[in-house]
Amino acid sequence: MPDETLITKKKSAPFILLQFASCIFVTFLLSTFILLNLVPAAPQLSLNANKNRNACPAYGCISSPIDNQTVILSSELYSTTSCQLGCLFTRQGPSHSVNQDRSFLIRPFLTKQQAAFAIKEESFLVAILDGHGVLGHEVAEYARTELPGIVADKLNARQCCQSDDWIQQQLKDAFAELQKKVPVHSGQRGGCTASVTLRIGEKLYFANAGDGRTILVYGKPNATVLYHTRFDKPHLPDERVRIESSGGRIHTPPQNPAMSRVIVFSKAANETIGLAMSRSIGDSEWKEIGVTAEPIVDVVPIESLERQFIVAASDGLWDLRRIEFLARQLTNNLYETGLDKSLPEKLPLFVDRIAPTKGYQDDISVVIVPL
Ligand SMILES: *[C@@H]1O[C@H](CO)[C@@H](O)[C@H](O)[C@H]1NC(C)=O
Ligand SMILES: *[C@@H]1O[C@H](CO)[C@@H](O)[C@H](O)[C@H]1NC(C)=O
Ligand SMILES: *[C@@H]1O[C@H](CO)[C@@H](O)[C@H](O)[C@H]1NC(C)=O
Repeated sequence: MPDETLITKKKSAPFILLQFASCIFVTFLLSTFILLNLVPAAPQLSLNANKNRNACPAYGCISSPIDNQTVILSSELYSTTSCQLGCLFTRQGPSHSVNQDRSFLIRPFLTKQQAAFAIKEESFLVAILDGHGVLGHEVAEYARTELPGIVADKLNARQCCQSDDWIQQQLKDAFAELQKKVPVHSGQRGGCTASVTLRIGEKLYFANAGDGRTILVYGKPNATVLYHTRFDKPHLPDERVRIESSGGRIHTPPQNPAMSRVIVFSKAANETIGLAMSRSIGDSEWKEIGVTAEPIVDVVPIESLERQFIVAASDGLWDLRRIEFLARQLTNNLYETGLDKSLPEKLPLFVDRIAPTKGYQDDISVVIVPL
């Protein structure tokens, strides 16, 4: 909305100060309200990963798995072993010295864009962050801790309920700010993908940079993939144009274009190295030649809540099978009769079956979020 932006810019300094002061006051009131009202009501939500609820930021409690661990998010209406609100799992690649995958799920994710009357659990923020390069895990870890707050700040900049365009722009701005603040040392020697989904009421906003992926599945009986984010690879026509016009060089194996790389001589590594994607967080030496942190953001209205779920996973999972196959397997194995109560135990077994540790070396993280 260009008009409103213009008006905002024209405001006088004292007015902005006044606005700022009242904003702080409202935030203070709001946090007092949250402290007084939400914390004593803790049994409402059982967030296994966050024992210390006082530590949760105003936008919600962050759940994040560590190696070989399934994290379960459940509401009190359902047994704590079901994945009513979501399930996260991560597994370190057997030959890796560190797991470079990070993920988080915040549900509810409370911002000003959530209408006052809405059910809290109708909001969430979920992300898969897959690190690469020597210090990729540092970039992914940095993104895990910083992104939720940055997104919340952007969405809190205006009152409810802004247009899709505005919300899409906030997600792009959040990625840009994240990129700007990546610690220099880590950003020179690594980067991470970011596949982020924001739910506000009846809409899903998918923001994707890199070759992580999020899909929206309609489960039984058809196991239909309703939406999927794109793998951002350098050989794709729009990506190639941007990178080559910025002076970047792309290597595309003729037999397998999906293995394309953006080639750069890295001063930090003192060698020529390739990046297997055209968008990412970090990777500062590639940013100068057209690799961008800007995500592609799509808005998908939720047509029906029934039997729909989101799967966000690192490329470790998607590399191995077609997404339709995975959607069918997940539907048949984990959503047999509506929501499968044993999903938390089944999820690691599912990953082991798709990608046996014996043969498969990459880190794998999966997050499943029923709508
Ligand atoms: C995770 O599980 C695999 C196999 O199940 C095992 O080899 C590995 O040591 C485990 N890692 C951790 C950190 O527990
Ligand atoms: C879904 O499956 C049902 C029964 O198997 C079938 O009748 C229906 O046409 C399918 N719908 C779509 C969209 O594939
Ligand atoms: C970079 O690598 C070259 C050879 O690969 C070597 O001769 C040179 O000393 C290296 N420079 C630094 C700063 O390590």
